[in-house]
Amino acid sequence: MYTVRNITEDLYYVGGDDRRLALFENIFPIPQGVSYNSYLLMDEKTVLIDTVDWSIAREYMSNVEYVLDGRDLDYLLINHMEPDHCAAIGLMLSKYPNATLIASEKAILFMRQFGFDVDDRYIEVKEGDTMNFGKHTLAFVEAPMVHWPEVLMTYDTKDKVLFSADAFGSFIANNGRLFADEVNWDRDYLDEARRYYTNIVGKYGTFVQKALEKAGGLDIAYICPLHGLVWREDIGYLLDKYIHWATYEPEEEGVLIAYASMYGNTEYAAQTLANKLCQAGITNISLRDVSSTDVSVLIAETFKYSNLVLASVTYNLNIYPKMKDFLNDMAALNVQNRGVSIIGNGTWAPQAAEKMEKFLDEEMRLMDVLPEGLDIVSSLKPSKEADVDAIVEGIKDNMKKRREEKAKAKSQKSGTKK
Ligand code: FEO
Repeated sequence: MYTVRNITEDLYYVGGDDRRLALFENIFPIPQGVSYNSYLLMDEKTVLIDTVDWSIAREYMSNVEYVLDGRDLDYLLINHMEPDHCAAIGLMLSKYPNATLIASEKAILFMRQFGFDVDDRYIEVKEGDTMNFGKHTLAFVEAPMVHWPEVLMTYDTKDKVLFSADAFGSFIANNGRLFADEVNWDRDYLDEARRYYTNIVGKYGTFVQKALEKAGGLDIAYICPLHGLVWREDIGYLLDKYIHWATYEPEEEGVLIAYASMYGNTEYAAQTLANKLCQAGITNISLRDVSSTDVSVLIAETFKYSNLVLASVTYNLNIYPKMKDFLNDMAALNVQNRGVSIIGNGTWAPQAAEKMEKFLDEEMRLMDVLPEGLDIVSSLKPSKEADVDAIVEGIKDNMKKRREEKAKAKSQKSGTKK
């Protein structure tokens, strides 16, 4: 059997889903699975665009064979050489011995590194090159570091299809669906698309911005990513999300309160702050325990919200380990441009608040640490209520300042255009 769907008259989805993998890249939980997308263009020549992870190779072989319907495979185009997409290269090359590989110079190098025998059967392409396969011409766009250095995006000039590699992808298996307009994407997919992008490609925002500039110059009717659903409607919506993530601009005015608590006292302070924020009208908040929330969720929400509250108990004279992991991940992924409020707790040698502030100052960029903070000695006392109120006011002021800066930047931009 087969699990194939048409995208255009000549283009077929031949990928598949993995619902058995617990950890993507052996690190990110994917409770709703993931898809490995591959596409087959049936023109005068046949072109298979990327392959899949080894876990679905058997289904993949059936799909490709079904669409080829007795024809030979002429070309195998590889946009991205990470093994979740390239594992089946060797299989396809041996099943279709006449197929010629098309890839960037770096991708060919990586193929050799991964042990594929590609000698005498590849064509190297670079930015601006095109290849014609009959009715369709494919144009190659270099997109280094989205998400590896060898990455190409490929544009079908006839049907205006952008094969976007890892960009515009998402976690969540496709489950028979193909197009983003077949689901309630905003409700059911946005959080997982954000978690996918921010944790996997988030570090390389400046490279993604460059790729987005190139994509912005194309007339795009379809976006075909390597994971998740294909876009053919409302593409501007998706581009806008990517612009926010790639430029580290918050999507929403709101607060992520991330707390590290051993016996509930720091948690109670975080809860108290959440309550007061809501009383003050700031209801777009997320309250997360760093011990029970996967750090990839914390990272995604850090990209989403304008403000962050870090509340940590002291542990071994340092920041609580799970909170330290979160901070390290934020720094590794280049998170920047957020207002941050700090709450520290300790019984006999409180250190967490001071060390978190130092980390934000020395290891991260453009983090606006607000002066209003809260130091707790063991448990939150009524005498500290004014400090909690001050944090709320500090966050309100910071949000106002951001709104004003944004409006100013917008008016300067429109003034420049006139
Ligand atoms: Fe889905 Fe960077 O590979």
